[in-house]
Amino acid sequence: MAYNSPTLNVMTAAARKAARPLVRDFGELENLQISMKGPADFVTSADKRTERILIEELGKARPGYGFLAEEGGAVAGKDTTHRFIIDPIDGTTNFMHGVPHFAISIALEREGQLVAGVIYNPVTDDLFTAEKGHGAYLNNRRLRVAGRKELPTSLIATGLPWLGRDGAGRAIAETAAVLGATSGIRRFGAASLDMAWVAAGRFDGYWERGLLPWDVAAGIVLVREAGGMVSDLNGGQEMLNGGAILTANEHLHPLLLKLLKTVA
Ligand code: IPD
Repeated sequence: MAYNSPTLNVMTAAARKAARPLVRDFGELENLQISMKGPADFVTSADKRTERILIEELGKARPGYGFLAEEGGAVAGKDTTHRFIIDPIDGTTNFMHGVPHFAISIALEREGQLVAGVIYNPVTDDLFTAEKGHGAYLNNRRLRVAGRKELPTSLIATGLPWLGRDGAGRAIAETAAVLGATSGIRRFGAASLDMAWVAAGRFDGYWERGLLPWDVAAGIVLVREAGGMVSDLNGGQEMLNGGAILTANEHLHPLLLKLLKTVA
């Protein structure tokens, strides 16, 4: 059974409450796909509403905590030692295209340290939770990163830039290096779930550049609590501010870091 502190329960309850209308929206999307404009406005309002529900619920239960959220940015609280870091829909493009691989992601930071994380895919009902010092769980089942020690048998996830984003050349070069050394690469389109799946041992590793704090904050807690390593792509700890991340078990992390560093 997962250890759930009162605060983790608050985070989980907020995610489940915000997820209910989101699942209904997801069902509606099929009808919207056929319009020329596509469902972009609908998705933006789903994103905003999800964030509003999360902030309302978390704020009710933990008044005074600050927020850093995708839509609303940073909001300082009276309690300057705590803040929630929120992505209302991580994997927005998947959501918009009716692909059931997206998640609500909530992390809690205490005195500048990430201490709890919840990642919830409302379509599959996969609830990933972790709390510093108490392990990582998927629907109450304890998680452990995969044990593979060698790159050739490893399955690695990544994220790639798209229209309007920089870094396509480097991403392609890094991808080429990794796919030439491993069993394969996956690009599933939701950074939070990529990290949760590393924690669950489904992926052996994951790296990406150009990320924002809410994409990775909860996932960092998940991977660490599942026994994995997390760093930026210089091997440092600037994942939230620097936008680049690498996660894997203790054997593969240094191998992947070395491999990625060979790419100029
Ligand atoms: C995105 C997803 C995607 C990753 C992007 C993120 P969003 O988050 O996590 O997998 O490749 O870098 O921005 O925008 O859907 O919350």
